Amino acid sequence: MKFFVDTADIEAIRELNDLGMVDGVTTNPSLILKSGRDILEVTKEICDLVDGPVSAEVVATEADAMIAEGRKLAAIAENIAVKLPLTWDGLKACKVLSGEGFMVNVTLCFSPNQALLAAKAGATFISPFIGRLDDINLDGMDLIADIREIYDNYDFGTQILAASIRTVNHVTEAAKIGADVMTAPPSVIKALAKHPLTDKGLEQFLADWAKTGQKIL
Ligand code: G3P
Repeated sequence: MKFFVDTADIEAIRELNDLGMVDGVTTNPSLILKSGRDILEVTKEICDLVDGPVSAEVVATEADAMIAEGRKLAAIAENIAVKLPLTWDGLKACKVLSGEGFMVNVTLCFSPNQALLAAKAGATFISPFIGRLDDINLDGMDLIADIREIYDNYDFGTQILAASIRTVNHVTEAAKIGADVMTAPPSVIKALAKHPLTDKGLEQFLADWAKTGQKIL
């Protein structure tokens, strides 16, 4: 499973990237707002830092304007994936931009049929939002499973990018189903390392080590 980090916070990306945990980055208008940075500047910095795809989202809602914004974002760097919302206009823009050879991430996906359309329009990534479905008492993981089944039935090459991941269990479940990629905030990625038995075991080992009176260095 590829790990994308869902943030426009350069320092957070750098820390995870230095550990080899970053296969790509996803941003959106809300994350750009949170960063307080200019979209073109911060996206360029992220692209310079990370080797993998960096999703940058258009804000136009009409296909021609989406295409124009997508081309401008794609010109930032070779590893840009243009992020488009899953609307009819977004699908039109996806078809054009993917046809021009750009990576496209179709976002705000909430149904298997939407995912089917994105694959047919040539999307590189489809982003089903797990947490936001959980928020309305649906099971976001069912959507990941449905899309996996449909894409496998027809050998679609579009990669399932599990998004709106809020918990470590979301990561486990998405990995078990076979999502190609997951994108999560840095806090969730770091939380994957945590286990109370690890902490407890380490405490015991250190206490026993102190009793030996030995030193390694
Ligand atoms: O990757 C999509 C993500 O940024 C949305 O997450 O938690 O706002 O639903 P959330």
